[in-house]
Amino acid sequence: MQSKLPDVGTTIFAIMSKMAAEHNAINLSQGFPDFPLDPTLVNLVSKAMQEGHNQYAPMPGLPALRNVIAEVIYSTYQKKVNPETEITVTAGGTQALYAILQALVHTGDEVIVFDPAYDSYNPAIRLSGGVPVHINLHAPSFQIDWNEVENKITSRTKIIMVNTPHNPSGAVLSEEDILSLEKLVVKHNLILLSDEVYERIIFDNKKHYSALEILFMPQVGKLVTL
Ligand SMILES: Cc1ncc(COP(=O)(O)O)c(C=O)c1O
Repeated sequence: MQSKLPDVGTTIFAIMSKMAAEHNAINLSQGFPDFPLDPTLVNLVSKAMQEGHNQYAPMPGLPALRNVIAEVIYSTYQKKVNPETEITVTAGGTQALYAILQALVHTGDEVIVFDPAYDSYNPAIRLSGGVPVHINLHAPSFQIDWNEVENKITSRTKIIMVNTPHNPSGAVLSEEDILSLEKLVVKHNLILLSDEVYERIIFDNKKHYSALEILFMPQVGKLVTL
């Protein structure tokens, strides 16, 4: 049977991890943590399972978990987020990205993506009927040229996806970048999908600027962060 995306094939992660296993090589292709699980977490998970917490959670996630996520967002970014209406728990970032794109992208909508990008972005956009508009970032800085971005915006542009800290380069958006981004989002009434799954993996004394912290004036622009 013909796949909807016949060109996608096997992901590079699966190919590299298989090769690493076959050749007994160090596997740098996927983010395997090189530290053991915290025993406190192991004990808590085991306790929860023994207590019988094995039923469906409410669709948006357990209220207790959403409350703690809201508290962490507040203590990290001083941003109040409503745990009942503004937080949804998903089984990882890939599912969140897919669900967001499926929910928001209509046929023919353009979605701006910066390359190199996490390889699930492009197929998820196309499966939702959208058109990925790729913008190349260049080594060594992998900084975004905001004039170039504005030139790529058309009347069909719906979403701009950013990823900071960036996989695979590690580059982070500066405060100026976030302000340029904010201007574009507001001016062109775009949805900003900000993938910040690596928000706590920061080096060189840099600061992570979250879209949550700086953006989001409710009357303009729209924001989704991971
Ligand atoms: C930039 C980026 N976003 C999201 C994800 C999704 O992470 P997961 O589905 O493992 O939670 C990854 C994983 O590699 C990633 O690199």
